Amino acid sequence: MSCEERIDDLLAQMSLAEKVGQMRQISGTDEGYKELIRQGAAGSFLNILGEQAREYQRLAVEESRLGIPLILGRDVIHGFRTVFPIPLGQAATFDPEIAREGARIAAREAAAFGINWTLAPMVDIARDPRWGRIAEGGGEDPYLAACMGAAMVEGFQGEDLADPERIAACAKHYVGYGAAEGGRDYDATWIPEGLLRDVYLVPFHACVQAGVATLMSAFNDLNGVPASGNAFTLRQILKGEWVFDGFVVSDWNSIIEMIPHGFAADEKEAALKGVMVGVDMEMVSTSYAEHIEALIEEGALPIELIDEAVRRILRIKFRLGLFENPYYEQERQAVVLCDEHLEAARKAARESCVLLKNDGLLPLNNELDRLAVVGPLADAGRDQLGCWVFDGRDEESRTPLQALREVLGEEKVVYAPGLENCRSADESMIPQAVGAAREAEAVVAFLGEDAGLSGEAHCRAFLDLPGAQQQLVDALAETGRPLVAVIMTGRPLTLEPVIEKVGALLLAWHPGTMGGPAIVDLLFGVESPSGRLPATLPRTVGQVPIYYNRKNTGRPPRDDVPSIPTGTPLDPQGFTAKHLDVDHGPLFPFGYGLSYTTFEYTDLQLSAQQLKMGETLTAAVTVTNTGGAKAVEVVQLYVRDLVGSVTRPVRELKGFQRIALEPGESRQVLFELHTDDLAFHNIDMERVTEPGGFRLWIGSHSQSGLQGEFEVMD
Ligand code: GLC
Repeated sequence: MSCEERIDDLLAQMSLAEKVGQMRQISGTDEGYKELIRQGAAGSFLNILGEQAREYQRLAVEESRLGIPLILGRDVIHGFRTVFPIPLGQAATFDPEIAREGARIAAREAAAFGINWTLAPMVDIARDPRWGRIAEGGGEDPYLAACMGAAMVEGFQGEDLADPERIAACAKHYVGYGAAEGGRDYDATWIPEGLLRDVYLVPFHACVQAGVATLMSAFNDLNGVPASGNAFTLRQILKGEWVFDGFVVSDWNSIIEMIPHGFAADEKEAALKGVMVGVDMEMVSTSYAEHIEALIEEGALPIELIDEAVRRILRIKFRLGLFENPYYEQERQAVVLCDEHLEAARKAARESCVLLKNDGLLPLNNELDRLAVVGPLADAGRDQLGCWVFDGRDEESRTPLQALREVLGEEKVVYAPGLENCRSADESMIPQAVGAAREAEAVVAFLGEDAGLSGEAHCRAFLDLPGAQQQLVDALAETGRPLVAVIMTGRPLTLEPVIEKVGALLLAWHPGTMGGPAIVDLLFGVESPSGRLPATLPRTVGQVPIYYNRKNTGRPPRDDVPSIPTGTPLDPQGFTAKHLDVDHGPLFPFGYGLSYTTFEYTDLQLSAQQLKMGETLTAAVTVTNTGGAKAVEVVQLYVRDLVGSVTRPVRELKGFQRIALEPGESRQVLFELHTDDLAFHNIDMERVTEPGGFRLWIGSHSQSGLQGEFEVMD
């Protein structure tokens, strides 16, 4: 029998209670849950694994009437026991293969403990770094986030969901969650349909096209309709236009949260709305379990919608092969933290680091006689893992201090944290750090945010280094010793005061288990940094929201006018869209990052000056490594639609390629741009490419590049 025939056959045998059971997800363990499983009153569990998972699965398969296996979910967001950089850091690699491999390894380790469904990738576009969950996604750009999210889906799921080393993925949080007002988690979102379709929905569509098995509906109020009760996004777009055939799980209690949203009067109405709009499974809250049967009996809810929801859930369970192989194989746990996995995590962490400044201090000489290692994050095994880590263990982290001692020898490394922790305002330990710096030939300060300052419900109104870290930087700078800052963080920070005081700055995000060796590889030049910013770095939180693919406005600030020095109110230099007291540009733009060499872009060539609809333009540029070190350049392609039936962004990323070049080496890099790649949603919400003039740039970040023009003909 085909999968669909098997579903039909099983559905026909199921009672209404058993159908409703499939739509219920429970978190954790409790003695009382065992009877629910025997009754077929739960179809999924969250946050159980190992022997607990095996026991609950056995009850479902062997002691319930129909033996329908459980789908067992867990937040395996950026690794299981081998923890990879936070997804924002993975996005900084501009390397989808890193995301794919990290997800594959995470699936391999998680599946060995009975998990068959991860609640990842998170693909919420975030243009506000105050929002703590910017850490979990692909940054500010829809094209980059789509590439990384789709790659994670492929890594988690592979070619065959029934592969015992693969697990179902879940694109979340559908949709618009990252646009939370004020950067406050769970706050309201107002997103016009054109912006929803051309920015926030793009990575979700890419995940659906990559075959993602499930999506998760979000918490946020979207234009007055909660995302978990939103027929437009769920029924019309996801299940209608995109013909998505997997299932949708709500977020934690997001069904009954339609009550505090003021969108449902009680749990019964919340259940009705959730099912009507296409949320197939309810996470944790019990409104489906308690009210669907009555809603059916009252005729408020057609049984067809229940059957459709259960069909979708069973479809994924069949595709996962759970009916044939419901149990995990213990011996597969041998792969956890194996060398292959650790090496992949080290590579990912290396590629994620973004070099923002280097006065020639880096790479360090590994013949140093004495290196001062300072800062609250030099030896912080838990914090370097970042947010959303349930299974990675602090003691399994390889910290920068450990790695530096391995490379230089214990006797050559002087360690002084300088602060008790990232948030400490107690400056009493700073003199000891200053003393260590004075004795050393160079100082590396590991600073930034602890893991608890980003992630869910962990938003910040300020983006500065927390605690007295700036005082620590200032004191270290006073010593006059060569000073390198390594910043670990879950979000873009306002680093201008740090940049001014150090000779080099490496932005390492939260780099995961192998963060130490990876950072040290870069500090000593084993490899050149190659990360690029997946989100804009503002000069001050007062600039937020600030992102590269902005609208031009009728009075754009002039980039050729000298910038206003930060914090120095001057006469307005023209009546344009900017602040009086800070430069109108970011500290560092999207796509920016340095390396240990320099690159030159020459000879931009376009295959045509005019394109007919349906044709493809080839754009070529020559990139030369004009410095003395082998390095990777991330060549980026941006376009601008100069005139549209609605205003268009000043730039949009449409392609990127990582190329490694030896010193002196040149290579021609080609991009293909089909007229469909230029499409957007017009005022009538039709996805169109409009004839007219276009500009393109190929360069090293979103404010640079060789510029060309072409025209699309009607
Ligand atoms: C949360 C998060 C979601 C997560 C779920 C289960 O509240 O919003 O991302 O997958 O609960 O832990």
